[in-house]
Amino acid sequence: MRRPVRDQILDALRAVIDPELRRDIVELEMVRSIDVHDNGVVDVTVSLTTPGCPIRGHFQTGVSQAVGRLEGVSGVNVSFDVLSDNEKSALGHKLGRGSLPEGALARVSNVICIGSGKGGVGKSSVTANLAAALACDGKRVGVLDADVWGYSQPRMLGLGAQRPHVNSDRKLIPLTAHDGIAVMSIGFFVEQDAAVVWRGPMLHKALQQFLEDVDWGELDYLLIDLPPGTGDVSMTLAQLLPQAKFLIVTTPQPVAQRVARRSAEMATKVKLEVAGVIENMSGFVTPDGERHQIFGEGGGQLLAEELEVPLLAKVPLTMALREQSDAGVPVVLSDPDDPAAQALRQGARGLIALSPVELPVMQEPAPAAAPKPAGMSLPMA
Ligand SMILES: Nc1ncnc2c1ncn2[C@@H]1O[C@H](COP(=O)(O)OP(=O)(O)O)[C@@H](O)[C@H]1O
Ligand SMILES: [Mg+2]
Repeated sequence: MRRPVRDQILDALRAVIDPELRRDIVELEMVRSIDVHDNGVVDVTVSLTTPGCPIRGHFQTGVSQAVGRLEGVSGVNVSFDVLSDNEKSALGHKLGRGSLPEGALARVSNVICIGSGKGGVGKSSVTANLAAALACDGKRVGVLDADVWGYSQPRMLGLGAQRPHVNSDRKLIPLTAHDGIAVMSIGFFVEQDAAVVWRGPMLHKALQQFLEDVDWGELDYLLIDLPPGTGDVSMTLAQLLPQAKFLIVTTPQPVAQRVARRSAEMATKVKLEVAGVIENMSGFVTPDGERHQIFGEGGGQLLAEELEVPLLAKVPLTMALREQSDAGVPVVLSDPDDPAAQALRQGARGLIALSPVELPVMQEPAPAAAPKPAGMSLPMA
């Protein structure tokens, strides 16, 4: 069989992105050596910026997959060495910075992208409320509103006409909602309700800036409210944040579940792990506590089973949730006894249970993850 040549391998390695520097390892000149053996085994050595580099595992997997896919490759050995000081400063220079950044989100333990196939399923409401619920459970939380066209976090979290400041490091400081939720949204930079028409490179740049040029500080969770669909924004974020997990919001009807599955497929394609499903609009609970299954039943559970991830919550439609999101206070805070609020608190606890809070900088490469129980679901209130 034909063995791939060095150039093909280099080309394939462009798919491996350094999550902190946000460039591919070929462009970063981090590929130290490539050896192709007669039996089709390829040895690749990657140079890291620091010896204890916590993202070693990320490179290990990325390189094995990228090279392993090539025709004629029977195996891939990945080894590591460390850039010399000279190489490091050359790299810093190349990146247009005096020194290497420590990684924009190096102090964020869990990045969770909240997505759905289509709009109007309650992604933004779920994001705002999960943020509030995580904060209630003592977690340090940030919300990045990545729905650049349909931003709604400023309104839902009650941050009307404020503008973020820039600190002495020329980083943007997120606004703070409800005593401690750090929030960044394109909505803070445009006139109220003005349409944002960015696409392609502009969009990519804006999102990159929200990750790199915002001082998120130390966070247990950064929740990212995605725009509907599987478009540019989701792809860009997945590239910039390979460590992110995906949370899928769906409604109970089978059609919505099919649409949601498409975003799950997208998540898989870009190699983000799907962490769980949240079913929203699971019935309407009247103020007297009566439940009506307006949108049918079971979509969330089916999707969760299919994806073999937990169904983290079934959030009913309630008047309080809608009113409170219009009023800028998540229902979790304003009306904790509301059935939607309770379901969202439970969803947040499920999320906490899934993601042990450890700072990635202190962590050794993760050992093989324990298998997830198939179709596990938390008991519903
Ligand atoms: N569980 C719910 N109960 C009542 N209203 C809801 C619920 N979930 C969402 N809504 C309302 O539905 C509308 C769309 O929700 P939103 O969170 O903006 O969806 P998306 O971000 O998916 O487009 C909003 O007016 C919101 O207040
Ligand atoms: Mg939205």
